[in-house]
Amino acid sequence: MQLIGPFSQLLTMDHLSLKGPLADQNLAIISQAGVVHDQGKIYAVGDFLKLQSQYPQAQVAYLEGDNVGMPGLIDAHTHICHAGSRAQDYSMRIGGKSYLDIAKEGGGIWRSVTATRNASEEALTAHILKRARRMIAQGVTTIEVKSGYGLSVASELRMLRAIRSAQETYPIFIPTCLAAHIPPKDRAGSASDYLKEIREELWPILLREGLTKRMDIFVEEGAFSVEEARTYLQQAQANGFDLTLHVDQFHPGSSLLAVELQALSADHLEASGTKEIQALAQSDVVAVALPGASLGLGDRFTPARRLLDAGASLAIASDWNPGSAPMGQLLLQAALLSVYEKLSTAETLAGLTIRAARALNLHDRGKLASDCRADIIAFPVDDYREILYQQGSLLPHRVWMRGQLFFP
Ligand code: NIG
Ligand code: FE
Repeated sequence: MQLIGPFSQLLTMDHLSLKGPLADQNLAIISQAGVVHDQGKIYAVGDFLKLQSQYPQAQVAYLEGDNVGMPGLIDAHTHICHAGSRAQDYSMRIGGKSYLDIAKEGGGIWRSVTATRNASEEALTAHILKRARRMIAQGVTTIEVKSGYGLSVASELRMLRAIRSAQETYPIFIPTCLAAHIPPKDRAGSASDYLKEIREELWPILLREGLTKRMDIFVEEGAFSVEEARTYLQQAQANGFDLTLHVDQFHPGSSLLAVELQALSADHLEASGTKEIQALAQSDVVAVALPGASLGLGDRFTPARRLLDAGASLAIASDWNPGSAPMGQLLLQAALLSVYEKLSTAETLAGLTIRAARALNLHDRGKLASDCRADIIAFPVDDYREILYQQGSLLPHRVWMRGQLFFP
């Protein structure tokens, strides 16, 4: 048993409403705080001196100087399992060509599929771990990772197995099957035929090997239609998979399918209008904003303010991928989203913790409370408002994952 502290301020992110607007006054902030943890889990959170006398058996990990502590960040949407670069696409994009046009001309997602298919499972695991180490140093202690650059039964399987191997090094990954990213260009037959093959040949293996509990699809021009997605996802639900969708990225409307099917999350939403915002707000689907994709494409941001004001739950994720979101800096992206969309610190930090946990259906993290994972980060400042003020240039100087200090 260990007691960590004292933290100048500790943001527990506990007892926050999961939907709608949040004011900074809603944050539970404990000053001169401590956290007692044992075997990877939080035992108690409270006043440091009180905890010290309540738990005399706890070994004290004493923090010097200023420290603002909070739960480790949760990145609920990434594509960090991939090989190859899309610098070529990016240079065309900043030169004025659109993402959809580049894809039509043979670049885009298909370029990453070719590179990823050529990579071994070991190489993919190494790529995931390298990117994950960078993310952990930025304070991210739970990382969702999608497949989706394989687009065949064998290659999608290799991606999901690579994610599982990465899990052996850091038990922080949440795998998602995105075999329905785009219809593979090298396969004869319709998009529905491809989805049928995935259902019949890939899903039984995923279920047997326990490779993922989550099913994703990209609903967009050049990807899958709402009708194709509905059939595929209804069958996924019948097989016990949780649903998450890439929707309303360039055209509105597909998020209504996420609401209809009561998916866990609807991600992107840059093109969502009033109808979509209202429907999401009235549902329990978490809206996931991906500012890294807006920045990578030079596109509009997800209407985060309007979503919150309508009453939706909002999470913020990096979408780190080789195409639309090559940056992979979650805190920086969230800080920029907050200043452009006018999100409070509480709304922004909740979107990176407790509300992101909900998007992944995780109940043991995203807040500092007893029985939760002892995933804690500390910034070398005395006021929590410094975190967003420094716009991603302030990094945590301590990161604990399940009670173990990752660095220094
Ligand atoms: O979330 N929108 C579709 N999929 C990814 C991009 C993938 C890529 O460009 O490689 C996304 O933005
Ligand atoms: Fe994505």
